[in-house]
Amino acid sequence: MSDRALTVELEHHAYPIYIGSDLLLDDGLLSRHVMGRQVMLVTNDKIAPLYIGTVQRAFASYQCDVVVVPDGEIHKNQQTVLMIYEALIQHNHHRDTTIIALGGGVVGDVTGFVAATYKRGVRLIHIPTTLLAQVDASIGGKTGINHLGGKNNIGSFYRPHAVIMDLNTLKTLSLRELRSGVAEVIKYGLLVGGDFLALIESFLSHDLIPLNTDALYLLIKQSCQIKAEIVQEDEFETGRRALLNLGHTFAHALESYTNFERWLHGEAVAIGLYCAALLSYQLNLITMVDVDYVDALLKRAQLPRRIPKDIDIDGLYELMFHDKKIKNKSLRFVLMKAFGTCYLDETVTQAQLRSVLLAVIE
Ligand code: GLY
Repeated sequence: MSDRALTVELEHHAYPIYIGSDLLLDDGLLSRHVMGRQVMLVTNDKIAPLYIGTVQRAFASYQCDVVVVPDGEIHKNQQTVLMIYEALIQHNHHRDTTIIALGGGVVGDVTGFVAATYKRGVRLIHIPTTLLAQVDASIGGKTGINHLGGKNNIGSFYRPHAVIMDLNTLKTLSLRELRSGVAEVIKYGLLVGGDFLALIESFLSHDLIPLNTDALYLLIKQSCQIKAEIVQEDEFETGRRALLNLGHTFAHALESYTNFERWLHGEAVAIGLYCAALLSYQLNLITMVDVDYVDALLKRAQLPRRIPKDIDIDGLYELMFHDKKIKNKSLRFVLMKAFGTCYLDETVTQAQLRSVLLAVIE
């Protein structure tokens, strides 16, 4: 199975998203979007032993250098950015080099930031190898690093030239990583409702974790379609794109509070989705049956839904005020009026937020 599934059409720039099996074995595809004769492959210490040799083979006739960064959200920082700059400078990469991000969301975000800034911007190709990176992080051009307690506090929008998703890379993914990606898929389901939410529900109700390749292909393709359509309309998040942050104000605070060490991003998003559902209920937007539905869906994906007791609600609340989504000093939450009907709310009070956080503590 292999196809050029989608194109993200932006003003003055369009890029393809390829989704299929064995794409890493397709040398012609890997080199198609490289223009000069230099390539810098950026990957992490988990992915390098699995796939770096395969990707390098496609660039045997190029100057192909590799930089292996440490794995984990805790390394999405300025030290890793410097490590990649130094490799580029040491190997004398020019403005026409192409940087390839081979890995999950952390590799993609950090590498994207380097590509945006090295020599004022060089070509970038994403090869996302986790479900989360395939359905979310590699599409839409957000790049960045964490700093001073704030998730993605430093970053830029930077458009890749291609995104290549090989479904085979998901076969080596741990179940935990796979579930983390499913959290973002559930997010899309809640955002659009209807058939897509029903599809996710049907896959999860058959206890299909780990999901088979056909199911993954459908979920990835439709998630990418949803995201591409939103990004095409609002690339720089001046409006509708903010809806993609459903559950994320909670999630980012939870990740920062625990120094990015306790949860995978999708796990924190899962707790955030449950918080967003409960907040929507407390504001009389949805019913408790809806909240239980969200809870059950996340539970079937074996994702966390509650805030552990050791987390201090006041500390979490403070961190929410460092969130990028703050506007005019008020917190902004994506809330649900129904599955498929979400909106951005800036009127949530401290008391309402506290009451939700207290209710979500396990
Ligand atoms: N992950 C949310 C976005 O790309 O806008």
